[in-house]
Amino acid sequence: MSININVVNESGETRGATWEEDQTLLDALLANQFPVLATCGGNASCATCHAYIDPEHFEASGERTEAEEDLLDMVDDVANEYSRLSCQTEYAEGLDGATVTLKPGM
Ligand code: FES
Repeated sequence: MSININVVNESGETRGATWEEDQTLLDALLANQFPVLATCGGNASCATCHAYIDPEHFEASGERTEAEEDLLDMVDDVANEYSRLSCQTEYAEGLDGATVTLKPGM
């Protein structure tokens, strides 16, 4: 199974991406050649994988982890109510058609 999302890069350009069921959002972004640094290797401790999920789909992205909440608090210059760490965002069919906007923190 896979879903399709739209990804807005830091230059404001939008490109489609495929997200496979066994991938986190970070995995999907990297597999689709988006230049996400992911400095901490997906351990919720760098925020370089920070992204916004569009309001219509945000709920489908699930609950933030505690570590994710803590880190998002530390990058409150970019984080908002629609923020997720892509490394902590699991695949969900409800995210099909979502728009993900890349906005690295730190
Ligand atoms: S890759 Fe570092 S917080 Fe997600």
